Amino acid sequence: MPWQPLDTDMPRMPASNDSRPLGQTAPGKGPCLIRQEPESEMCDRPYYQVARLDFPALKAELAVLPDSSLCVARVYGLDIESSRALTGLGFRKMCVQTLFATGLAGHQPDLTALPVVDLDLDEDSLNRHASNFRFSNFSFDPNFSTEAWAKCNRWCIKRHLADHTAFKFALKSGFVSFRVGEGKAIIDLISVLEARQGIGAALMAKVLDFCAAQGLAWVEVVTDCENLTACLFYQKMGFLLFGSIGVFHFHQSARQRTRGSKGVQHGRSFSHS
Ligand SMILES: CC(C)(COP(=O)(O)OP(=O)(O)OC[C@H]1O[C@@H](n2cnc3c(N)ncnc32)[C@H](O)[C@@H]1OP(=O)(O)O)[C@@H](O)C(=O)NCCC(=O)NCCS
Repeated sequence: MPWQPLDTDMPRMPASNDSRPLGQTAPGKGPCLIRQEPESEMCDRPYYQVARLDFPALKAELAVLPDSSLCVARVYGLDIESSRALTGLGFRKMCVQTLFATGLAGHQPDLTALPVVDLDLDEDSLNRHASNFRFSNFSFDPNFSTEAWAKCNRWCIKRHLADHTAFKFALKSGFVSFRVGEGKAIIDLISVLEARQGIGAALMAKVLDFCAAQGLAWVEVVTDCENLTACLFYQKMGFLLFGSIGVFHFHQSARQRTRGSKGVQHGRSFSHS
């Protein structure tokens, strides 16, 4: 359980010794790397998620990955040890994501609209929204061309819009997509093409109203810390900064494999798993 509610209605920072990567599926057992099929299609290369931070086992699994594979690891910003160990294994930190959250206690919902689960965008809008997301772990990765990460963005938007478990609001040139569960909502995407005209704020008001009316305790969103516009926007909407997440990439290549076979020189004993 990476994030747990406090006695109040807000998330808390994980303990500094919490070395579990986000999205961990099988603590203590199973492979460290789990292949993700949809993401492999998105990236045009085998895509693996680091699901377990057992560094000796991870090193062995990395050594036998097919060429051109991409492995993605996410660890809490407080977890310096794991960040160092990942870097020692050849991972590169791509970006730091920030977690914002806002509590809904006392929020008086003004329910004028209900979200939809079906939202279609025409090709032109889809492409424009894909270019609107300028910050992601792919945009900082030199192994992804501008066209390749725009394609990833496009793929991500399409996937979220097609996901019938996600709610959406659309307004003028903007949309927001979010999921609800475990007493909270998570915003996946928000994008407005005609910026600074109050459309983002109006979309967010609809999300907060709907979530408050559903009796949810809080709303979370993760964005890249370089995305200053989004950070300022969330702060203006009443969100507070609650934590950070480092996103790491490892690309398997012939060069990487040679480095791996010579051993990893980072002076860490991998004492914890
Ligand atoms: C973030 C985003 C959705 C904001 O939408 P928007 O319609 O432009 O925002 P609004 O006009 O409603 O602005 C609301 C408040 O946010 C803040 N804000 C928005 N854009 C800002 C900017 N460029 N600089 C500083 N503050 C900004 C301001 O406080 C603003 O209030 P104000 O205009 O009264 O000063 C939009 O910039 C966007 O689509 N960005 C690209 C996609 C993205 O990065 N999404 C977030 C990550 S999932």
